[in-house]
Amino acid sequence: MPLLVSLFLLVFLAAPALAGEVAVAPEVDASALPTLGAQWLTANPYRGNAVAVDLGRLAYNQACARCHGADAATRAAPAPDLRNLDRYCRRIADAELQAACLRDNDDYFAHSVRHGKIIVGVTHMPPWEGVLKQELAWAIQVFIEAQARGARE
Ligand code: HEC
Repeated sequence: MPLLVSLFLLVFLAAPALAGEVAVAPEVDASALPTLGAQWLTANPYRGNAVAVDLGRLAYNQACARCHGADAATRAAPAPDLRNLDRYCRRIADAELQAACLRDNDDYFAHSVRHGKIIVGVTHMPPWEGVLKQELAWAIQVFIEAQARGARE
């Protein structure tokens, strides 16, 4: 029952509030990151890159925080807590399985960001393709992962 109630609230109440949202590019200089070109990669190339975490924080707070919460550090935001995205991968002990899990996760992250979340014609999240450089998208992901590790490990 609580699940049904949350689904109802999400679909019928949250959706109109977020409808018509447009993606606005963050003003963050990505030139300190290795350039990736126009073709989107399928896996995050910046894991372990501390500069990417810092730039990702700046870009996240400009572009994503208004829906997903400041600094990716609150559960009280209207949109999902993105720290949960790599939660299952982090729990896998086997290195090879964990790498495969992260690849799937990267693919899902990139797909969600590029195409947004448009559900039965309602824009829950605008598409970021053509607005957000892929360098900043991957930097945002490593920043979110760093926040997730800080919060739970
Ligand atoms: C206008 C509000 C809004 C903005 C701005 C926004 N998002 Fe979202 N995002 C949402 C909503 C709402 C969902 C959940 C959509 C659904 O599945 O119903 C979502 C879902 C996602 C998901 C999938 C999460 C999951 O658990 O499946 C990812 C990844 C994501 N957003 C990343 C981003 C990133 C990165 C940014 C900044 C570049 C961003 N979002 C900016 C509203 C927003």
